[in-house]
Amino acid sequence: MFSVVDPETGFTSSVIRDPRRFVGRTELIESCMNALSAREGVIGVYGKRGVGKSSLVRQIQQMANGNYDIAQKAGLAHLIPKTPRRYYTVYYACDSSIGNTVDLIKRLCNDTEVEDGLLRLVPDVGKELEEFSRSDDDSSGHDLRLVKWGAKGADSQKYASFIPNDPIQSFRNFVGAALDANNRVWSKRDGLLILLDEFDVIGQKNHMGSLIKSLTAPTVKFGVCGIGQDLGALINDHKSVARLIEQGAIHVRPMNAEETRQIFSTAEKLFKGVVTFAPDVVDQIVEISEGYPYFAQLIGKACVQYGNNTGFNNIDRKIFGEVLDRIREGRSFPNLEEQYQLAVGKSKERAMLLVLLAEQRSDAAQYNDDIGRVVLQKTRAAAQGLGIDYIDQLMPRLVEQRYGPALVKGSEQRGIYEFADPVFRAYVKLRTLD
Ligand SMILES: Nc1ncnc2c1ncn2[C@@H]1O[C@H](COP(=O)(O)OP(=O)(O)OP(=O)(O)O)[C@@H](O)[C@H]1O
Ligand SMILES: [Mg+2]
Repeated sequence: MFSVVDPETGFTSSVIRDPRRFVGRTELIESCMNALSAREGVIGVYGKRGVGKSSLVRQIQQMANGNYDIAQKAGLAHLIPKTPRRYYTVYYACDSSIGNTVDLIKRLCNDTEVEDGLLRLVPDVGKELEEFSRSDDDSSGHDLRLVKWGAKGADSQKYASFIPNDPIQSFRNFVGAALDANNRVWSKRDGLLILLDEFDVIGQKNHMGSLIKSLTAPTVKFGVCGIGQDLGALINDHKSVARLIEQGAIHVRPMNAEETRQIFSTAEKLFKGVVTFAPDVVDQIVEISEGYPYFAQLIGKACVQYGNNTGFNNIDRKIFGEVLDRIREGRSFPNLEEQYQLAVGKSKERAMLLVLLAEQRSDAAQYNDDIGRVVLQKTRAAAQGLGIDYIDQLMPRLVEQRYGPALVKGSEQRGIYEFADPVFRAYVKLRTLD
């Protein structure tokens, strides 16, 4: 019998916090466990856009709180330490208005977020905290969230320990005070874990590595996360933290086929069996989504929505064919479609060129497949065959910031590009020309 279901029950395009929704990544989880167990060290999570970095960081946060469900699920139960190091955790998503290292530390010292902010952990008269679980089931591994600011209110300037002209010293004071004060009240923890997401957008990253190094201690661990092909892209002066980061360099790559399949078996479980996907449909989605869980989740959601509208809970080949047609016509994913329209403008030729570039296969021998570079030269002949004569006039819009950009320079060499967003590339491959 058909029933309408909420697509979000099984699929999500948001960062995954709940370990029950998180699939695969066994080796990465193992590395994260090692990094958390290390007395001293920095964690660096990097990879392409939309590949699943933030979701992994949220799982690191869970484990830091002592919730090792994700490790259990990944079959790593035997590696869970008997008494794991436990941390109070701070999670902060950086933005492009953070100009430099001092800005960042100031932001941290002023972050009033009640579940993730540093300030919530800093003691103050009258301040009240409570334990809470970061997953839907109330399992072990609780973190602290703020229920009441102290008598002095949320303004950090009023904290006695805040030194106006020396945010770095303030930060040290805050961290020390947070650990001591909370250890008197709550079950004792070994340190503070400061997770900095979207680290790639910070303007001036000079000296970030040496700052992190100077602040790292057995009681303070940093985890930085952002888009990049290597650690150097994330922390310019990463050599200064090389020794500290040795164990904690975590490269998130596209998922393998089995992992993407698990997104669908997990969804079926979350839907309590009401929604099912035919195996050949899942195989098709595995191929289309190219290891990017974001695209797989979006397509899953679109299937369930379409099923709701047409009265089906079993997504078979026929239903999926109809879903795919809608995607191809640009009717399913407004954000990707907007990017697409912005990139191609009104030019049919540019749309064709973009498709040709998206479909270009990187030569595995020449380029690491994971890099996904495209070479303009390789497309010229095909484009001319299709009657596109003026490639060089079509290109600028594809690389200009204000139109996306769809493409970014892939290397110093001329004519080598990379799709800024690999999910967008996968979308372009599907999209039929208007
Ligand atoms: N392990 C996973 N299992 C299931 N789905 C996942 C997993 N990791 C990520 N996803 C899904 O993929 C999408 C992108 O995840 P996430 O936001 O963590 O990626 P990201 O690399 O941080 O992206 P960005 O580069 O945009 O910051 C989300 O829809 C999320 O639900
Ligand atoms: Mg992210």
